[in-house]
Amino acid sequence: MKKVTAFAPATVANVSCGFDILGFAIDDLGDKVTVELKEQEGLTVKQIEGDGGKLPLEADKNTCTVAIKAMLDALGIQKGIAVSLEKGLPLGSGMGSSAASAAAALVAANELLGKPFEKNDLVPFAMEAERMACGAAHADNVAPSILGGFVLIRGYDPLDVVKLPVPKGLYCTLIHPHLELKTADSRSVLRQQISLKASTVQSGNIAGLIAGLYESDYGLISRSLKDVIAEPSRALLIPGFYELREAVMEVGALGSGISGSGPTIFILAQGKETALKAGHESKKVFEKIGLEVDVYVSEVNDRGSYISDNQ
Ligand code: HSE
Repeated sequence: MKKVTAFAPATVANVSCGFDILGFAIDDLGDKVTVELKEQEGLTVKQIEGDGGKLPLEADKNTCTVAIKAMLDALGIQKGIAVSLEKGLPLGSGMGSSAASAAAALVAANELLGKPFEKNDLVPFAMEAERMACGAAHADNVAPSILGGFVLIRGYDPLDVVKLPVPKGLYCTLIHPHLELKTADSRSVLRQQISLKASTVQSGNIAGLIAGLYESDYGLISRSLKDVIAEPSRALLIPGFYELREAVMEVGALGSGISGSGPTIFILAQGKETALKAGHESKKVFEKIGLEVDVYVSEVNDRGSYISDNQ
């Protein structure tokens, strides 16, 4: 029986000011999903590795199978597909873990079925998995994980995904403290209303960040990496958040923020050397608090999800 494996990368969603509308993909870190046809109709999760036994094997609760089901429903077909998931990403990390599983599952299943869809068309199916996982069908992790690059979700109704340019030499440092924060919980602390003033400030920053990316204007990118909507409520859930910011700005970072819904913190920097320095300083901050962290340094990954094995 035919068997296809796909890899999908980690992602940084929101990118400070772009709550639910901005995200980018990271190199190397990610999840792998293998799909194979089986004789009996229906979707099954055959095995999951690397999750410490925490993820559900039920097809209606697993992001891989929920995403594939949305795809099969759109095609109006029933199939027998078994899914094996190899988690490379920690759960509840803010690095788009559930999104990467769904993205890899879709890219693999699309190949298995003879490529009925273009990559772009897979995004809404992955959003259904996000809806199941956290209660909100946001696309700012799944779109960059599938498509790669830095993306803007210009609109959700209808879905309008725009790939943005990335200035040469833009690096991201990810600081992952060993804490787990569920997206649903981290969404529940958000205020449902914002003031006119906050909306003006946030709009200016989103526009500034995008203009900065187009113009390769690092000063503008730095000035725009501010979030007055989600960060004030969510930063309270992440120890050391503001200390880290102070430390990395001192070594020349462009800015820092919560990666997706946290607890991972992302830092943007011009050049690898500054990104590495920022990682080093961040580690020191967390050492003081007594929390272990993983540090990753990456450029923006333009490839997104890809087939890694096809038998
Ligand atoms: N935009 C989503 C949120 C990303 O902030 O809740 C979740 O990773």
